[in-house]
Amino acid sequence: MDTWEALEQTCQSCRECSLWETRKNVVFGVGSRNAEVLFIGEGPGANEDEQGEPFVGRAGKLLDDMLAIIGLKRESVYIANIVKCRPPQNRDPLEVEQDACIGYLRRQAALLRPKIIVCLGRIAATKIIREDFKISREHGQWFEKAGVQMTAVYHPAALLRDPRRRPEAFDDFKALQAKIREICDHTEVD
Ligand code: URA
Repeated sequence: MDTWEALEQTCQSCRECSLWETRKNVVFGVGSRNAEVLFIGEGPGANEDEQGEPFVGRAGKLLDDMLAIIGLKRESVYIANIVKCRPPQNRDPLEVEQDACIGYLRRQAALLRPKIIVCLGRIAATKIIREDFKISREHGQWFEKAGVQMTAVYHPAALLRDPRRRPEAFDDFKALQAKIREICDHTEVD
């Protein structure tokens, strides 16, 4: 039987792709291990690499604000990334890096058994929902896969770059709030 402890230990010493050479910390994931909602980002940035925790920089602050708007506490969800080590210069994680790492995320999802998965941005959406997912066209839509409700929203870093997309992101989070009310048992929202 898999355990969180065994999985985290394996990740901490992982050398399955070359990102281990430049990482300061493996960014395993944070949040409640009973969470019904799993958020998946792309990969750690500089702040996350420093602190070993996902979404702690500017994008993380915006994510926290979006969660607060719907009354969802960061501690009551789980947050992880497609890759657990920082790609140098914040480039997109390479396909080989994603493929080397995705098994760990799948093990996390198997332990968590979330009711809802929210992909933050294109990279997570193309890896988790559908290879040819178009974030600008399909954000906020819902998909069911193996009994799990899935959606993708704009990545908070994209919202920082282009604030004109914020109203759409707001609508997507309101839809997430409604979905949580509909299908979750113990996740509190406003
Ligand atoms: N962007 C991501 O995709 N993940 C993080 O953890 C931080 C920034």
